[in-house]
Amino acid sequence: MNKEVIILGIESSCDDTSAAVVRNGLLLSNAIAGQKVHEEYGGVVPELASRAHQQNIVPVVAAALSRAGISPAQLSAIAFTRGPGLLGSLLVGTSFAKGMSLGLRCPIVDVNHLHGHVLSHFIRREETDAVPEFPYLCLLVSGGNSQIILVKSPAEMEILGQTIDDAAGEAFDKCAKVMGLPYPGGPHIDRLASEGNPAAFRFARPHIDGLDYSFSGLKTSFLYTVRDHLKTNPEFISRNLPDLAASLQQAIIDILMDKLAKAVKQTGVRTVAIGGGVSANSGVRNAVAEFCARKGLRAFIPPREFTTDNAAMVAMAGYFKYLDGDFCSYDSVPYARVSI
Ligand code: KG4
Repeated sequence: MNKEVIILGIESSCDDTSAAVVRNGLLLSNAIAGQKVHEEYGGVVPELASRAHQQNIVPVVAAALSRAGISPAQLSAIAFTRGPGLLGSLLVGTSFAKGMSLGLRCPIVDVNHLHGHVLSHFIRREETDAVPEFPYLCLLVSGGNSQIILVKSPAEMEILGQTIDDAAGEAFDKCAKVMGLPYPGGPHIDRLASEGNPAAFRFARPHIDGLDYSFSGLKTSFLYTVRDHLKTNPEFISRNLPDLAASLQQAIIDILMDKLAKAVKQTGVRTVAIGGGVSANSGVRNAVAEFCARKGLRAFIPPREFTTDNAAMVAMAGYFKYLDGDFCSYDSVPYARVSI
């Protein structure tokens, strides 16, 4: 008998409440409620995030189920993000998943949020949509991570390199703050960079051995350049916004691509994927696509809706764990920090 596997995914690790339904590995729905409440604070306020998740979770789960045309009784399992993330936010999704599963008598599956990003390339709406074959390299770049991961299977991942200080997203956001741009600055830099000259300013590139990243030197170099110019030209930032953005973005791309190219050479792996919030960046996407085309590699660049936090990737990662019979118990608690 061919039993249908229907997974509800729940994501609440930071400031987006999301729920998605996957049936036999195909995505049926992905509902997301963002949180505007943080805008005036220039960053996510954890307590406000937890409260907003509590308000959003019931309608978001209801929307995901109704858009999928699935009733709760049909669910095979509920997958939820257990970490890493903000503890209060994670608690909302974790507790909701446990409560719903107890009510429905279906199992729960805990998902590492980072696995979700890495496996987001398996989110398919049609059977014919392409997915990467194993092993593949994944450049995971977000507000909290910059890692090169060797993905051997949905359950087996090895970190080949990672940041020793700031993440790529932090470099975008912190420099954007210096430029007076709203939080998160990454998308604003992306937009401004399209009108600027990437060679207008030259910011420092790090010299770190192996496949590890560093972005704090770039940040300092950006800060010093801006500070020096401001001494003689108080309007330096406002007059040079596009050029500053384009030069900063170029530096971040160069740093990311340098280690990614080394990882490809070192491993001989022929498939390259990117994931995480920074993989929404136009410059990063173009650089990876061009690099792969030049080297004859297969590139997997996620649709922008799956680069940031979403439950589709959680449901997908949960689907793989469900097939492995890898469930979690009701006494499992969320974790704020965890690696791959
Ligand atoms: O994966 P993500 O949504 O969650 C966290 O890690 O928190 O990544 C958020 C990060 C932020 O630093 C944001 O500025 C960055 O992704 N980001 C971008 C773009 N879109 C989001 N950075 C550069 N260009 C973008 N288009």
